[in-house]
Amino acid sequence: MIQLKNGREIESIRASCRLLAETFKALDGFIGIGVTLQEIDRFAKGYMEERGGVPAFLGYQEYPASICASINHIVIHGIPDGRALREGDILSVDMGIILDGFYSDAAYTYAIGGVSEEARRLLDVTRECLDLGIRAARTGNRVRDISMAIYDHATEHGYGVVHQFCGHGTGFALHEDPQIPNYVGRGPNPRLKSGMVLAIEPMINTGTGDVVILDDGWTVETADHGLSAHFEHTIVLHDDRTEILTAFD
Ligand code: MF3
Ligand code: CO
Repeated sequence: MIQLKNGREIESIRASCRLLAETFKALDGFIGIGVTLQEIDRFAKGYMEERGGVPAFLGYQEYPASICASINHIVIHGIPDGRALREGDILSVDMGIILDGFYSDAAYTYAIGGVSEEARRLLDVTRECLDLGIRAARTGNRVRDISMAIYDHATEHGYGVVHQFCGHGTGFALHEDPQIPNYVGRGPNPRLKSGMVLAIEPMINTGTGDVVILDDGWTVETADHGLSAHFEHTIVLHDDRTEILTAFD
């Protein structure tokens, strides 16, 4: 069931999303060559908690950290460890916050120092996929319009689209209906309505969209070990416009 949010609830979700955006902005000055994934996790957790936020991922289905940190061929759900960032890495940071009981969810893939042309192109196109998906997320459209916008742009560039994980509703819980696939399938295709809060999150690979889940039960990597990028925003649909709640750059 898709839960629509009223004005008061949207205001609370907006505050959660604003704190998440501020956390990403703060991370921008912290992330760099030599910094470890665990240091990034600790920094983000501290930043949220000092401002009244609770890391939404920590303990979610027993996930052991506050952020997901996914390097290079890791697609999503990378568990932060002692690995230090090196020049040329791409690092997806995925975070969520619970503020006064309301959820936010966003991800950004950082280029560490100078990255290859291949990596730069993947980051650009994945970010464009998110932009196009958001543009299609308008009251009166349907979920599949979002999926198609993302899928078409990625495949036009020869990239693989991950099928196994999707975007989703959010706000009252981390994951709510509807599911928002990044490919065009035959699943449910609900109409988009004012008051929907959605997390749109293309996961795009240089090779195929096939992925493997590692033995830790979390880490998702590309089957062919090609690069993967991931961008995510939480948005809210109004009658006449769509608002990006986690925008920060
Ligand atoms: N942002 C991720 C998603 O939308 C959440 C990571 S799962 C967690 O699915 F367990 F780490 F929280
Ligand atoms: Co999400």
